[in-house]
Amino acid sequence: MRRHASEGAGTTREKSVVELACGMPKAELHVHIEGTLEPGLVMSLARRNGVALAYPSEEALRAACRFRDLQSFLDLYYACASVLRTEQDFYELMVAYLRRAAADGIVHVEIFFDPQTHTARGIAFETVLRGLRRGLEAGRILGLSGRLIMCFLRHLSQAEAFAALAQAEPHLEAIDGFGLDSSERGHPPSQFAEVFARVRSLGRPVVAHAGEEGPPAYIWEALDLLKARRIDHGVRALEDPALVRRLVASRIPLTVCPLSNVRLRVFPEMTAHNLPALLRAGLCVTINSDDPAYFGGYLNDNIRAVAGAFHLSAAEWYVLARNSFEAAWVDEAQREAWTRSLDEYFARQGYPMAGRA
Ligand code: HPA
Ligand code: ZN
Repeated sequence: MRRHASEGAGTTREKSVVELACGMPKAELHVHIEGTLEPGLVMSLARRNGVALAYPSEEALRAACRFRDLQSFLDLYYACASVLRTEQDFYELMVAYLRRAAADGIVHVEIFFDPQTHTARGIAFETVLRGLRRGLEAGRILGLSGRLIMCFLRHLSQAEAFAALAQAEPHLEAIDGFGLDSSERGHPPSQFAEVFARVRSLGRPVVAHAGEEGPPAYIWEALDLLKARRIDHGVRALEDPALVRRLVASRIPLTVCPLSNVRLRVFPEMTAHNLPALLRAGLCVTINSDDPAYFGGYLNDNIRAVAGAFHLSAAEWYVLARNSFEAAWVDEAQREAWTRSLDEYFARQGYPMAGRA
């Protein structure tokens, strides 16, 4: 399974499997809109809005994208987010991401946003939400459907999460679900049990980042206390066989982000990533980009990086895309339509998969 360095880019047949995977229709379910803020856009928005940044140029910003761990990334990520000030800024950010997503064959996206990062700087909650929603609407022209997932920052308190939820409640029709992100270590899901109970009482689904840097116990808490429907990252689940059995039996999806995990040193290199092991354990794994402007690429860049490290079969790529539709928050008719289009795509490319895998 592990590719030897001497094998280089692989055979023609392997190359065609990578192209097959890049071209397949798929959903992206773990991407932070603030993490799609490319250095070029950071610089132009800083100029437009008169925001002083510690980085004098795009090159300086790119050079800063060498991270030791999650926290060292978050420090840069929050600093760059300070250039986002107007509804138009959030709109342009969303449209720029959706253009790239469409080019990668993505047909559906579920996108995180972090309102507390912006309201703390005096930006109105409504400014953020309106800009992002308008951008998502514009994405329909590109053939993309989308959902917005509002995240609570776990380095802040539950009281602050409740305050953010109070701002969101008048706009619930524009918020499709709620998540939990930011610094994981020392901030277990249990600290947010009550605010997520309120979220569920409002009829909104819950997801949570867990088991990225944090231990498997945080995944159990996300499932049992927050009633998370998906686990974002979750790669450390493999350390706990009982947890794997629970996740497999319940088909709780893991939204795995390979380039993110390597850049944040969750794994020392791509060949050490456990994505093939997660897949082969029967978990409902999906591939996602997390913060593509910071981690070296968008969804197809993640696919190419994984394909460069492992010999995944056409059937395994098919399962990854099918899982992304299984895990998406859409009605059954839409899920079946996308799965059919995936079957047709693989059949057209000479890899009939329908009813297999
Ligand atoms: N983990 C936690 N919080 C985040 C991340 C992440 O990978 N990206 C943006 N916020
Ligand atoms: Zn994330």
